[in-house]
Amino acid sequence: MDSSPRRYNVRELAAMKAAGQKIVMITAYDAIMARLADEAGVHLLLVGDSMGNTVLGYDNTIPVTMAESMALTAAVRRGAKRAMVVGDLPFLSYQVSLEEAVRNAGQYLKEAGADAVKLEGGRVVYEVIARLVNAGIPVMGHVGLLPQSVLKDGGYRMHGKSQQEADALMADALAVQEAGAFAVVLEGIPVPLAAAITARLHIPTIGIGAGPDCDGQVQVITDLLGMGGDFVPRHAKVYVELGRMAAEGLKAYVKEVTSGNFMVEKTKNKEK
Ligand code: KIV
Repeated sequence: MDSSPRRYNVRELAAMKAAGQKIVMITAYDAIMARLADEAGVHLLLVGDSMGNTVLGYDNTIPVTMAESMALTAAVRRGAKRAMVVGDLPFLSYQVSLEEAVRNAGQYLKEAGADAVKLEGGRVVYEVIARLVNAGIPVMGHVGLLPQSVLKDGGYRMHGKSQQEADALMADALAVQEAGAFAVVLEGIPVPLAAAITARLHIPTIGIGAGPDCDGQVQVITDLLGMGGDFVPRHAKVYVELGRMAAEGLKAYVKEVTSGNFMVEKTKNKEK
């Protein structure tokens, strides 16, 4: 019998929104970070296609492939016990046809052990979301700033600042809910708009750069742990300077090895 702790599920997340309990989501890209975040009490681990910029060395999320994302999602699943694991459908894995979308999304559940998938877009992906949900695949939506549209949009910027854009985003969020998504990420939108969407939807909203009124928050783990170099996005909060600490540790290691002092003390003590 499986004795592992029960994982969070879509019904618990809905109950958390209803009870006014905040939901914690963070990205993870490997089993180590997944285990640490899981043990810290994170509810949702997103194996974001932000892996493109954060761990795979691309300029943006566009080049991320199914194979890359599947491998990292499987690693995160192996590291997490209690957290719900969400695989992020990469660019072109759900836009070409509904059949491809179902097959690709289904692979996350069948082969990588994910509990759900996420995809970007509002009204334009209504049918995709509905089809996946009908196939039994839990879907998280994502509206506002859409990193997979960065080339089309000419860069990263806040969305929903004009009344017209705000109305369009509200319509997008409602469409995602109506299509059957269990939650929706609100990225890079004004605080009052995120609050209005959160009040209007019955599914949880998870914000990033969308203010404190969302039902939950998501952060990119490398930002939160200070591993993103000098650039810290405006929406991010650095809780620990892991990047600087790692650099110092590695420099000390290089110095000890090159000077012939690596493990010398320990070896001497052992010989005594
Ligand atoms: O890919 C990602 O990490 C994301 C989050 C920023 C929500 O989509």
